[in-house]
Amino acid sequence: MIMRKQSLTLETLAKLAVEFAGHLSPKKDRATVVALFGDLGAGKTAFAKALARAYGIEDDVTSPTFVIEKIYTPAKGPFSRLIHIDAYRLNSAHDLEVLGWDELLQAPSNLILVEWPENVERAIPSDAYRISLEYVDEHTRSITHDLK
Ligand SMILES: Nc1ncnc2c1ncn2[C@@H]1O[C@H](COP(=O)(O)OP(=O)(O)O)[C@@H](O)[C@H]1O
Ligand SMILES: [Mg+2]
Repeated sequence: MIMRKQSLTLETLAKLAVEFAGHLSPKKDRATVVALFGDLGAGKTAFAKALARAYGIEDDVTSPTFVIEKIYTPAKGPFSRLIHIDAYRLNSAHDLEVLGWDELLQAPSNLILVEWPENVERAIPSDAYRISLEYVDEHTRSITHDLK
């Protein structure tokens, strides 16, 4: 696995999201999971929003902090659902059960993005993509990822 670190503006974030979306293809027997690490304000939701745009999702993608989960329907691309989860208020992987986590993981057509994955570590599959965001300055973030 190759880890890459790069500096990002909101504009290059959008480009990276398009590139990432172009590279993701559904697995044969399970969902695709993307774990988004980073402090408050690091740009996790901004990444999720950019990825949603890349899949032609026009909805206003906002942080699902209070509802925990939001589900979008991509207008293009190979996935039939983009599921955005914010685990900020969750204490353990067990808390994902109410969302039907096991079923969500079983559908290859699901693309699942998880903010604060460290809170639900045990639920994150070992083959999940891992992306870390860090604040650099007002307009810049650094991103470390294992996007192939
Ligand atoms: N290069 C950048 N990448 C991501 N977000 C950025 C960038 N520059 C500015 N921002 C802004 O920083 C904020 C990041 O907030 P958000 O994505 O909600 O963070 P998090 O979900 O990690 O708490 C947004 O208001 C976004 O517009
Ligand atoms: Mg967020």
